[in-house]
Amino acid sequence: MKRYGMFVNGEHVKSERNAWLPVIDPSLETVIAEVPDASAADVDRAVSAARAAFDTGGWPQTTAQDRGRLLFKLANKIRDEAGPLAELECRNTGKPIVEAEFDIQDAATCFEYYGGLATKIQGHVNPVPDNALSLTLREPVGVAGQIIPWNYPLVMAAWKLAPALAAGCACVLKPAEQTPLTVLELASWLPEIGFPPGVVNIITGLGEPAGSSLVAHPDVDKIAFTGSAAVGKLILKSAADTIKRVTLELGGKSPNIFFADADFEAAIDGALFGVFINQGEVCSAGSRILVQKSIYAKFVDAFAEKSKKILLGPPMDRATKMGPLVSKEQYDRVRGYQEIGKGEARLVAGGGRPKGFDKGYFVEPTIFADVDNNARIAREEIFGPVAAVIPFENEADAVRIANDSPYGLAAAVWSRDIFRALRVVKAVRAGIVWVNHMQPTYVEAPWGGYKQSGFGRELGPWGMEEYLEAKQVHINLSEQPIGWY
Ligand code: NAI
Ligand code: MG
Repeated sequence: MKRYGMFVNGEHVKSERNAWLPVIDPSLETVIAEVPDASAADVDRAVSAARAAFDTGGWPQTTAQDRGRLLFKLANKIRDEAGPLAELECRNTGKPIVEAEFDIQDAATCFEYYGGLATKIQGHVNPVPDNALSLTLREPVGVAGQIIPWNYPLVMAAWKLAPALAAGCACVLKPAEQTPLTVLELASWLPEIGFPPGVVNIITGLGEPAGSSLVAHPDVDKIAFTGSAAVGKLILKSAADTIKRVTLELGGKSPNIFFADADFEAAIDGALFGVFINQGEVCSAGSRILVQKSIYAKFVDAFAEKSKKILLGPPMDRATKMGPLVSKEQYDRVRGYQEIGKGEARLVAGGGRPKGFDKGYFVEPTIFADVDNNARIAREEIFGPVAAVIPFENEADAVRIANDSPYGLAAAVWSRDIFRALRVVKAVRAGIVWVNHMQPTYVEAPWGGYKQSGFGRELGPWGMEEYLEAKQVHINLSEQPIGWY
Protein backbone atom coordinates (compact mmCIF):
# COMPACT_ATOMS: atom_id res chain seq x y z
CA MET A 1 0.00 0.00 0.00
CA LYS A 2 1.33 3.38 -0.93
CA ARG A 3 2.37 5.84 1.73
CA TYR A 4 2.37 9.45 0.65
CA GLY A 5 4.39 12.03 2.55
CA MET A 6 3.11 15.52 3.27
CA PHE A 7 4.85 18.21 1.29
CA VAL A 8 6.81 20.66 3.41
CA ASN A 9 9.59 22.96 2.24
CA GLY A 10 9.88 21.18 -1.10
CA GLU A 11 10.08 17.66 0.29
CA HIS A 12 7.75 14.81 1.12
CA VAL A 13 7.92 14.20 4.85
CA LYS A 14 6.35 12.05 7.58
CA SER A 15 4.58 13.60 10.52
CA GLU A 16 6.77 14.31 13.50
CA ARG A 17 4.92 11.65 15.54
CA ASN A 18 5.15 9.18 12.63
CA ALA A 19 1.35 8.81 12.80
CA TRP A 20 -0.64 7.84 9.71
CA LEU A 21 -4.23 8.13 8.49
CA PRO A 22 -5.87 5.62 6.15
CA VAL A 23 -7.29 6.80 2.83
CA ILE A 24 -10.33 4.82 1.70
CA ASP A 25 -11.80 3.82 -1.65
CA PRO A 26 -15.47 4.45 -0.83
CA SER A 27 -16.78 2.09 -3.50
CA LEU A 28 -14.90 -0.92 -2.09
CA GLU A 29 -14.38 0.25 1.52
CA THR A 30 -10.71 -0.65 1.24
CA VAL A 31 -7.65 1.28 2.36
CA ILE A 32 -5.78 2.50 -0.73
CA ALA A 33 -3.07 4.62 0.87
CA GLU A 34 -1.86 6.23 4.04
CA VAL A 35 -0.98 9.83 4.66
CA PRO A 36 0.65 11.55 7.64
CA ASP A 37 -1.59 12.55 10.50
CA ALA A 38 -0.22 16.03 11.12
CA SER A 39 0.01 17.57 14.57
CA ALA A 40 0.34 21.21 15.56
CA ALA A 41 4.13 20.76 15.39
CA ASP A 42 3.89 19.64 11.74
CA VAL A 43 1.71 22.61 10.92
CA ASP A 44 4.26 24.86 12.59
CA ARG A 45 7.02 23.39 10.43
CA ALA A 46 4.99 24.01 7.26
CA VAL A 47 4.12 27.55 8.29
CA SER A 48 7.80 28.29 9.04
CA ALA A 49 8.73 27.05 5.56
CA ALA A 50 6.06 29.25 3.97
CA ARG A 51 7.08 32.20 6.13
CA ALA A 52 10.71 31.82 5.05
CA ALA A 53 9.76 31.53 1.36
CA PHE A 54 7.72 34.69 1.69
CA ASP A 55 9.90 36.79 4.02
CA THR A 56 13.42 35.98 2.87
CA GLY A 57 13.14 33.43 0.05
CA GLY A 58 12.36 36.01 -2.62
CA TRP A 59 9.03 34.56 -3.78
CA PRO A 60 7.03 37.82 -3.62
CA GLN A 61 9.86 39.52 -5.51
CA THR A 62 9.74 37.13 -8.47
CA THR A 63 8.34 38.84 -11.52
CA ALA A 64 4.69 38.41 -12.33
CA GLN A 65 5.77 36.92 -15.66
CA ASP A 66 7.82 34.25 -13.89
CA ARG A 67 5.02 33.36 -11.50
CA GLY A 68 2.63 33.18 -14.42
CA ARG A 69 4.96 30.88 -16.35
CA LEU A 70 5.25 28.52 -13.38
CA LEU A 71 1.47 28.31 -13.20
CA PHE A 72 1.28 27.58 -16.94
CA LYS A 73 3.85 24.80 -16.55
CA LEU A 74 1.86 23.34 -13.70
CA ALA A 75 -1.32 23.44 -15.79
CA ASN A 76 0.47 21.65 -18.65
CA LYS A 77 1.75 18.99 -16.29
CA ILE A 78 -1.77 18.43 -14.96
CA ARG A 79 -3.02 17.97 -18.54
CA ASP A 80 -0.13 15.58 -19.31
CA GLU A 81 -0.99 13.51 -16.25
CA ALA A 82 -4.78 13.87 -16.62
CA GLY A 83 -5.45 10.15 -17.07
CA PRO A 84 -3.77 8.86 -13.90
CA LEU A 85 -4.90 11.89 -11.91
CA ALA A 86 -8.55 11.38 -12.88
CA GLU A 87 -8.28 7.72 -11.95
CA LEU A 88 -6.82 8.60 -8.55
CA GLU A 89 -9.52 11.22 -7.94
CA CYS A 90 -12.17 8.72 -8.99
CA ARG A 91 -10.92 5.97 -6.68
CA ASN A 92 -10.48 8.30 -3.72
CA THR A 93 -13.79 10.21 -3.94
CA GLY A 94 -16.04 7.61 -5.57
CA LYS A 95 -17.19 10.11 -8.19
CA PRO A 96 -17.77 8.71 -11.70
CA ILE A 97 -14.61 8.67 -13.83
CA VAL A 98 -16.18 10.87 -16.48
CA GLU A 99 -16.80 13.57 -13.87
CA ALA A 100 -13.30 13.12 -12.45
CA GLU A 101 -11.83 13.65 -15.93
CA PHE A 102 -13.79 16.87 -16.24
CA ASP A 103 -12.53 18.02 -12.83
CA ILE A 104 -8.88 17.47 -13.73
CA GLN A 105 -9.20 19.61 -16.87
CA ASP A 106 -11.04 22.22 -14.83
CA ALA A 107 -8.21 22.36 -12.30
CA ALA A 108 -5.69 22.88 -15.12
CA THR A 109 -7.84 25.67 -16.55
CA CYS A 110 -7.81 27.41 -13.18
CA PHE A 111 -4.00 27.43 -13.05
CA GLU A 112 -3.91 28.75 -16.61
CA TYR A 113 -6.38 31.52 -15.83
CA TYR A 114 -4.38 32.77 -12.85
CA GLY A 115 -1.11 32.28 -14.71
CA GLY A 116 -2.44 34.86 -17.15
CA LEU A 117 -3.87 37.10 -14.45
CA ALA A 118 -0.54 37.33 -12.59
CA THR A 119 0.65 39.98 -15.06
CA LYS A 120 -2.57 42.00 -14.74
CA ILE A 121 -2.17 42.93 -11.07
CA GLN A 122 -2.23 46.70 -11.31
CA GLY A 123 -2.17 49.54 -8.85
CA HIS A 124 -3.73 52.99 -9.10
CA VAL A 125 -2.90 56.65 -9.13
CA ASN A 126 -5.19 58.38 -6.63
CA PRO A 127 -6.46 61.93 -7.40
CA VAL A 128 -5.49 63.52 -4.06
CA PRO A 129 -5.98 67.30 -3.66
CA ASP A 130 -2.34 68.24 -2.98
CA ASN A 131 0.92 68.73 -4.74
CA ALA A 132 1.67 65.09 -4.43
CA LEU A 133 1.60 61.79 -6.23
CA SER A 134 -0.59 59.25 -4.50
CA LEU A 135 -0.26 55.62 -5.56
CA THR A 136 -1.80 52.35 -4.58
CA LEU A 137 0.48 49.33 -4.78
CA ARG A 138 -0.93 45.83 -4.68
CA GLU A 139 1.06 43.41 -2.55
CA PRO A 140 0.51 39.78 -1.57
CA VAL A 141 -1.21 39.18 1.78
CA GLY A 142 1.63 36.91 2.91
CA VAL A 143 1.26 33.32 4.08
CA ALA A 144 -2.13 31.90 3.15
CA GLY A 145 -3.61 28.98 5.11
CA GLN A 146 -6.07 27.08 2.92
CA ILE A 147 -8.48 24.40 4.08
CA ILE A 148 -10.51 22.46 1.53
CA PRO A 149 -13.23 19.80 1.44
CA TRP A 150 -13.47 16.38 -0.18
CA ASN A 151 -16.11 16.82 -2.89
CA TYR A 152 -13.85 18.30 -5.60
CA PRO A 153 -10.36 17.72 -4.18
CA LEU A 154 -8.08 18.88 -7.00
CA VAL A 155 -10.45 21.58 -8.22
CA MET A 156 -10.71 23.05 -4.72
CA ALA A 157 -6.92 22.94 -4.38
CA ALA A 158 -6.62 24.81 -7.68
CA TRP A 159 -9.19 27.45 -6.67
CA LYS A 160 -7.13 28.13 -3.55
CA LEU A 161 -3.52 27.73 -4.74
CA ALA A 162 -3.71 29.37 -8.17
CA PRO A 163 -4.83 32.90 -7.19
CA ALA A 164 -2.64 32.90 -4.07
CA LEU A 165 0.48 31.95 -6.05
CA ALA A 166 -0.32 34.41 -8.82
CA ALA A 167 -0.57 37.14 -6.18
CA GLY A 168 2.82 36.16 -4.71
CA CYS A 169 1.60 34.51 -1.49
CA ALA A 170 3.16 31.40 0.03
CA CYS A 171 0.66 28.67 0.87
CA VAL A 172 -0.01 26.02 3.46
CA LEU A 173 -2.90 23.95 2.20
CA LYS A 174 -4.74 21.25 4.10
CA PRO A 175 -6.80 18.88 1.95
CA ALA A 176 -9.71 17.04 3.54
CA GLU A 177 -8.55 13.94 5.43
CA GLN A 178 -10.77 11.80 3.19
CA THR A 179 -9.23 12.94 -0.12
CA PRO A 180 -5.61 14.09 0.08
CA LEU A 181 -4.12 12.10 -2.80
CA THR A 182 -4.36 14.17 -5.98
CA VAL A 183 -2.97 17.33 -4.44
CA LEU A 184 -0.06 15.35 -2.96
CA GLU A 185 0.59 13.98 -6.43
CA LEU A 186 0.56 17.51 -7.79
CA ALA A 187 2.93 18.68 -5.05
CA SER A 188 5.49 16.09 -6.09
CA TRP A 189 5.96 17.89 -9.43
CA LEU A 190 6.51 21.36 -7.98
CA PRO A 191 10.31 21.17 -7.51
CA GLU A 192 11.00 20.04 -11.12
CA ILE A 193 8.60 22.69 -12.43
CA GLY A 194 10.62 25.29 -10.56
CA PHE A 195 8.56 26.35 -7.56
CA PRO A 196 11.02 27.30 -4.81
CA PRO A 197 10.84 25.28 -1.56
CA GLY A 198 8.29 26.54 0.96
CA VAL A 199 6.11 28.38 -1.56
CA VAL A 200 3.57 25.53 -1.52
CA ASN A 201 3.20 23.24 1.49
CA ILE A 202 0.59 20.53 1.84
CA ILE A 203 -0.21 19.23 5.30
CA THR A 204 -2.42 16.19 5.68
CA GLY A 205 -4.42 15.57 8.80
CA LEU A 206 -7.67 16.01 10.64
CA GLY A 207 -9.65 19.18 11.06
CA GLU A 208 -8.60 19.04 14.67
CA PRO A 209 -5.62 19.40 15.30
CA ALA A 210 -4.17 20.10 11.82
CA GLY A 211 -6.79 22.51 10.47
CA SER A 212 -7.42 24.26 13.73
CA SER A 213 -3.73 24.87 14.43
CA LEU A 214 -3.29 26.34 10.96
CA VAL A 215 -6.16 28.75 11.69
CA ALA A 216 -4.74 29.71 15.10
CA HIS A 217 -1.13 30.06 13.92
CA PRO A 218 0.15 33.60 14.49
CA ASP A 219 2.40 33.53 11.39
CA VAL A 220 -0.47 32.82 8.98
CA ASP A 221 -1.89 36.01 7.47
CA LYS A 222 -5.04 34.72 5.87
CA ILE A 223 -7.35 31.69 5.96
CA ALA A 224 -9.40 30.58 2.97
CA PHE A 225 -11.88 27.85 3.85
CA THR A 226 -14.46 25.76 2.02
CA GLY A 227 -16.55 23.36 4.06
CA SER A 228 -19.33 23.17 6.60
CA ALA A 229 -21.01 26.15 8.22
CA ALA A 230 -20.24 24.68 11.64
CA VAL A 231 -16.49 24.69 10.98
CA GLY A 232 -16.75 28.09 9.28
CA LYS A 233 -18.07 29.54 12.53
CA LEU A 234 -15.21 27.98 14.53
CA ILE A 235 -12.69 29.39 12.06
CA LEU A 236 -14.12 32.88 12.23
CA LYS A 237 -13.94 32.86 16.03
CA SER A 238 -10.42 31.45 16.15
CA ALA A 239 -9.16 33.88 13.50
CA ALA A 240 -10.28 36.78 15.69
CA ASP A 241 -7.36 36.22 18.07
CA THR A 242 -4.81 37.08 15.39
CA ILE A 243 -7.04 39.33 13.21
CA LYS A 244 -6.56 37.06 10.22
CA ARG A 245 -8.15 37.84 6.94
CA VAL A 246 -10.79 35.16 6.35
CA THR A 247 -12.82 34.03 3.37
CA LEU A 248 -15.45 31.33 3.80
CA GLU A 249 -17.46 29.22 1.35
CA LEU A 250 -19.95 27.27 3.43
CA GLY A 251 -22.36 25.58 1.09
CA GLY A 252 -26.08 26.06 0.99
CA LYS A 253 -29.60 24.88 0.46
CA SER A 254 -30.05 26.28 -2.98
CA PRO A 255 -33.46 26.73 -4.61
CA ASN A 256 -33.99 25.46 -8.14
CA ILE A 257 -37.20 27.23 -9.24
CA PHE A 258 -39.48 25.90 -11.99
CA PHE A 259 -42.27 28.01 -13.48
CA ALA A 260 -45.09 26.41 -15.45
CA ASP A 261 -43.89 28.01 -18.69
CA ALA A 262 -40.43 26.37 -18.54
CA ASP A 263 -39.58 23.81 -21.23
CA PHE A 264 -40.74 20.67 -19.45
CA GLU A 265 -38.09 18.19 -20.65
CA ALA A 266 -35.29 20.65 -20.02
CA ALA A 267 -36.74 21.37 -16.58
CA ILE A 268 -36.75 17.72 -15.50
CA ASP A 269 -33.20 17.27 -16.72
CA GLY A 270 -32.16 20.48 -14.98
CA ALA A 271 -33.73 19.40 -11.70
CA LEU A 272 -31.88 16.05 -11.86
CA PHE A 273 -28.54 17.54 -12.87
CA GLY A 274 -28.86 20.33 -10.30
CA VAL A 275 -29.20 18.02 -7.33
CA PHE A 276 -27.72 14.63 -8.30
CA ILE A 277 -24.48 15.49 -10.08
CA ASN A 278 -21.43 14.36 -8.06
CA GLN A 279 -23.78 12.25 -5.83
CA GLY A 280 -25.30 15.52 -4.63
CA GLU A 281 -22.04 16.31 -2.84
CA VAL A 282 -22.01 19.82 -4.23
CA CYS A 283 -22.03 23.07 -2.28
CA SER A 284 -24.41 24.62 -4.81
CA ALA A 285 -26.68 21.56 -5.12
CA GLY A 286 -30.20 22.54 -6.14
CA SER A 287 -31.60 20.64 -3.20
CA ARG A 288 -34.81 22.67 -2.77
CA ILE A 289 -36.84 22.17 -5.91
CA LEU A 290 -39.60 24.79 -6.10
CA VAL A 291 -42.30 23.92 -8.61
CA GLN A 292 -45.34 25.96 -9.66
CA LYS A 293 -48.58 24.31 -8.62
CA SER A 294 -50.10 24.14 -12.11
CA ILE A 295 -47.36 21.68 -13.24
CA TYR A 296 -46.54 20.26 -9.83
CA ALA A 297 -48.09 16.77 -10.05
CA LYS A 298 -46.80 16.09 -13.55
CA PHE A 299 -43.35 17.43 -12.59
CA VAL A 300 -43.04 15.28 -9.48
CA ASP A 301 -43.98 12.15 -11.44
CA ALA A 302 -41.54 12.78 -14.28
CA PHE A 303 -38.74 13.83 -11.92
CA ALA A 304 -39.19 10.72 -9.76
CA GLU A 305 -39.44 8.38 -12.78
CA LYS A 306 -36.31 9.70 -14.43
CA SER A 307 -34.34 9.65 -11.16
CA LYS A 308 -34.94 5.89 -10.95
CA LYS A 309 -33.02 5.45 -14.21
CA ILE A 310 -29.82 7.02 -12.87
CA LEU A 311 -27.18 4.30 -13.16
CA LEU A 312 -25.32 3.67 -9.94
CA GLY A 313 -22.20 1.58 -10.27
CA PRO A 314 -18.45 1.26 -9.95
CA PRO A 315 -16.96 4.75 -10.27
CA MET A 316 -14.36 3.56 -12.79
CA ASP A 317 -17.08 2.31 -15.15
CA ARG A 318 -17.63 4.88 -17.89
CA ALA A 319 -21.39 4.26 -17.91
CA THR A 320 -21.78 5.04 -14.20
CA LYS A 321 -23.70 8.22 -13.43
CA MET A 322 -23.58 8.00 -9.65
CA GLY A 323 -20.93 6.53 -7.40
CA PRO A 324 -20.83 6.03 -3.64
CA LEU A 325 -20.65 8.84 -1.11
CA VAL A 326 -17.16 9.78 -0.06
CA SER A 327 -17.06 8.23 3.42
CA LYS A 328 -18.85 6.16 6.03
CA GLU A 329 -19.47 9.36 7.98
CA GLN A 330 -21.17 11.02 5.01
CA TYR A 331 -23.10 7.84 4.22
CA ASP A 332 -24.46 7.71 7.78
CA ARG A 333 -25.37 11.40 7.66
CA VAL A 334 -27.26 11.09 4.38
CA ARG A 335 -28.99 7.86 5.43
CA GLY A 336 -30.06 9.74 8.56
CA TYR A 337 -31.64 12.50 6.46
CA GLN A 338 -33.43 9.91 4.32
CA GLU A 339 -35.11 8.70 7.52
CA ILE A 340 -35.83 12.21 8.79
CA GLY A 341 -37.46 13.00 5.45
CA LYS A 342 -39.78 10.03 5.71
CA GLY A 343 -41.24 11.60 8.83
CA GLU A 344 -41.53 15.05 7.26
CA ALA A 345 -42.73 14.60 3.67
CA ARG A 346 -43.88 12.20 0.97
CA LEU A 347 -41.16 9.89 -0.39
CA VAL A 348 -41.49 9.52 -4.15
CA ALA A 349 -38.13 7.99 -5.15
CA GLY A 350 -35.27 6.17 -3.47
CA GLY A 351 -35.06 6.53 0.28
CA GLY A 352 -32.46 3.93 1.15
CA ARG A 353 -29.49 1.93 0.02
CA PRO A 354 -29.69 0.64 -3.55
CA LYS A 355 -30.28 -3.07 -4.00
CA GLY A 356 -27.45 -5.24 -5.24
CA PHE A 357 -24.67 -3.29 -3.54
CA ASP A 358 -23.19 -5.12 -0.61
CA LYS A 359 -20.09 -2.92 -0.48
CA GLY A 360 -19.52 0.78 -0.82
CA TYR A 361 -21.20 3.88 0.55
CA PHE A 362 -23.95 3.94 -2.06
CA VAL A 363 -27.32 5.59 -1.44
CA GLU A 364 -30.29 5.85 -3.78
CA PRO A 365 -31.14 9.12 -5.45
CA THR A 366 -33.94 10.20 -3.14
CA ILE A 367 -36.84 12.59 -3.73
CA PHE A 368 -39.32 13.91 -1.21
CA ALA A 369 -42.41 15.78 -2.42
CA ASP A 370 -44.81 18.12 -0.62
CA VAL A 371 -41.97 19.36 1.58
CA ASP A 372 -42.63 22.25 3.92
CA ASN A 373 -39.85 24.82 3.63
CA ASN A 374 -39.54 24.69 7.43
CA ALA A 375 -38.80 20.96 7.44
CA ARG A 376 -35.28 19.92 8.37
CA ILE A 377 -34.74 18.41 4.90
CA ALA A 378 -35.50 21.86 3.45
CA ARG A 379 -33.36 23.86 5.89
CA GLU A 380 -30.25 21.76 6.53
CA GLU A 381 -27.53 21.01 4.03
CA ILE A 382 -27.56 17.25 3.39
CA PHE A 383 -24.70 17.05 0.86
CA GLY A 384 -25.94 13.88 -0.78
CA PRO A 385 -28.50 12.85 -3.42
CA VAL A 386 -31.61 13.97 -1.54
CA ALA A 387 -34.06 16.42 -3.12
CA ALA A 388 -36.91 18.29 -1.43
CA VAL A 389 -39.71 19.33 -3.80
CA ILE A 390 -41.77 22.29 -2.61
CA PRO A 391 -44.88 23.61 -4.40
CA PHE A 392 -45.49 27.34 -4.94
CA GLU A 393 -48.39 29.39 -6.24
CA ASN A 394 -46.89 32.38 -8.06
CA GLU A 395 -43.74 34.43 -8.57
CA ALA A 396 -43.94 36.28 -5.24
CA ASP A 397 -44.45 32.99 -3.45
CA ALA A 398 -41.45 31.43 -5.22
CA VAL A 399 -39.16 34.32 -4.29
CA ARG A 400 -40.34 34.31 -0.67
CA ILE A 401 -39.65 30.57 -0.28
CA ALA A 402 -36.35 30.79 -2.16
CA ASN A 403 -35.10 33.51 0.21
CA ASP A 404 -36.44 31.82 3.34
CA SER A 405 -33.17 30.04 4.17
CA PRO A 406 -30.14 30.87 6.28
CA TYR A 407 -28.03 30.15 3.19
CA GLY A 408 -27.49 32.15 0.01
CA LEU A 409 -24.92 30.44 -2.20
CA ALA A 410 -26.80 29.68 -5.41
CA ALA A 411 -30.18 29.54 -7.11
CA ALA A 412 -31.64 28.77 -10.51
CA VAL A 413 -34.82 29.82 -12.27
CA TRP A 414 -36.48 28.07 -15.21
CA SER A 415 -38.93 30.01 -17.37
CA ARG A 416 -39.38 31.05 -20.99
CA ASP A 417 -40.62 34.45 -19.83
CA ILE A 418 -37.44 36.55 -19.78
CA PHE A 419 -39.09 39.35 -17.79
CA ARG A 420 -40.09 36.97 -15.02
CA ALA A 421 -36.74 35.17 -15.02
CA LEU A 422 -34.84 38.42 -14.65
CA ARG A 423 -37.12 39.71 -11.90
CA VAL A 424 -36.41 36.51 -9.98
CA VAL A 425 -32.67 36.85 -10.64
CA LYS A 426 -32.72 40.26 -8.97
CA ALA A 427 -34.97 39.24 -6.09
CA VAL A 428 -33.11 36.14 -4.96
CA ARG A 429 -30.32 36.68 -2.42
CA ALA A 430 -27.56 34.38 -3.66
CA GLY A 431 -24.01 34.58 -4.99
CA ILE A 432 -25.00 33.03 -8.31
CA VAL A 433 -28.33 32.69 -10.11
CA TRP A 434 -28.57 30.51 -13.21
CA VAL A 435 -31.38 30.96 -15.75
CA ASN A 436 -32.52 27.77 -17.50
CA HIS A 437 -29.49 25.84 -16.25
CA MET A 438 -27.88 24.86 -12.99
CA GLN A 439 -24.26 24.19 -11.96
CA PRO A 440 -21.94 25.40 -14.72
CA THR A 441 -19.12 27.24 -12.98
CA TYR A 442 -16.42 29.18 -14.76
CA VAL A 443 -13.02 30.25 -13.54
CA GLU A 444 -13.62 33.65 -15.17
CA ALA A 445 -16.63 34.53 -12.99
CA PRO A 446 -17.01 35.12 -9.23
CA TRP A 447 -18.04 32.35 -6.85
CA GLY A 448 -19.19 32.74 -3.26
CA GLY A 449 -22.11 33.20 -0.94
CA TYR A 450 -24.56 35.64 0.53
CA LYS A 451 -25.87 35.24 4.08
CA GLN A 452 -24.56 32.21 5.99
CA SER A 453 -23.05 30.70 2.87
CA GLY A 454 -20.01 32.77 3.76
CA PHE A 455 -18.19 35.78 2.40
CA GLY A 456 -15.43 36.63 0.01
CA ARG A 457 -15.33 35.55 -3.61
CA GLU A 458 -13.23 32.97 -5.40
CA LEU A 459 -12.42 32.80 -9.12
CA GLY A 460 -12.09 35.58 -11.64
CA PRO A 461 -10.24 38.75 -10.67
CA TRP A 462 -12.24 38.72 -7.40
CA GLY A 463 -10.51 35.51 -6.36
CA MET A 464 -7.09 37.14 -6.59
CA GLU A 465 -8.22 40.32 -4.80
CA GLU A 466 -8.66 38.21 -1.67
CA TYR A 467 -4.91 37.51 -1.70
CA LEU A 468 -3.82 41.12 -2.19
CA GLU A 469 -3.30 44.04 0.17
CA ALA A 470 -3.50 47.67 -0.95
CA LYS A 471 -0.57 49.84 0.04
CA GLN A 472 -1.00 53.58 -0.24
CA VAL A 473 2.13 55.48 -1.21
CA HIS A 474 2.15 59.25 -0.79
CA ILE A 475 4.94 61.16 -2.55
CA ASN A 476 5.22 64.79 -1.65
CA LEU A 477 6.13 66.89 -4.71
CA SER A 478 6.44 70.16 -2.83
CA GLU A 479 9.96 71.11 -1.75
CA GLN A 480 8.67 73.54 0.95
CA PRO A 481 8.63 72.65 4.67
CA ILE A 482 5.19 71.65 6.00
CA GLY A 483 5.20 74.96 7.95
CA TRP A 484 2.77 73.97 10.71
CA TYR A 485 4.94 74.61 13.78
P1 NAI B 1 -15.90 19.94 7.45
O1 NAI B 1 -16.30 21.36 7.35
O2 NAI B 1 -15.71 19.35 8.81
O3 NAI B 1 -14.51 19.71 6.65
C1 NAI B 1 -14.01 20.54 5.63
C2 NAI B 1 -12.54 20.79 5.88
O4 NAI B 1 -12.38 21.48 7.11
C3 NAI B 1 -11.69 19.53 5.98
O5 NAI B 1 -10.42 19.77 5.42
C4 NAI B 1 -11.56 19.35 7.48
O6 NAI B 1 -10.43 18.62 7.87
C5 NAI B 1 -11.46 20.79 7.94
N1 NAI B 1 -11.83 21.01 9.34
C6 NAI B 1 -12.72 20.29 10.09
N2 NAI B 1 -12.76 20.80 11.34
C7 NAI B 1 -11.91 21.84 11.38
C8 NAI B 1 -11.52 22.77 12.41
N3 NAI B 1 -12.02 22.70 13.65
N4 NAI B 1 -10.63 23.73 12.09
C9 NAI B 1 -10.11 23.80 10.86
N5 NAI B 1 -10.42 22.96 9.86
C10 NAI B 1 -11.31 21.99 10.12
O7 NAI B 1 -16.94 19.08 6.62
P2 NAI B 1 -17.30 17.52 6.77
O8 NAI B 1 -17.34 17.14 8.22
O9 NAI B 1 -16.40 16.76 5.89
O10 NAI B 1 -18.77 17.51 6.17
C11 NAI B 1 -19.87 17.89 6.97
C12 NAI B 1 -20.87 18.68 6.19
O11 NAI B 1 -20.28 19.89 5.78
C13 NAI B 1 -21.35 18.06 4.89
O12 NAI B 1 -22.40 17.15 5.11
C14 NAI B 1 -21.79 19.28 4.12
O13 NAI B 1 -23.08 19.66 4.52
C15 NAI B 1 -20.82 20.34 4.57
N6 NAI B 1 -19.73 20.54 3.58
C16 NAI B 1 -19.81 21.60 2.74
C17 NAI B 1 -18.86 21.77 1.75
C18 NAI B 1 -18.91 22.91 0.79
O14 NAI B 1 -18.46 22.77 -0.33
N7 NAI B 1 -19.36 24.07 1.16
C19 NAI B 1 -17.77 20.80 1.56
C20 NAI B 1 -17.75 19.75 2.54
C21 NAI B 1 -18.70 19.63 3.50
MG1 MG C 1 -16.46 17.83 9.96
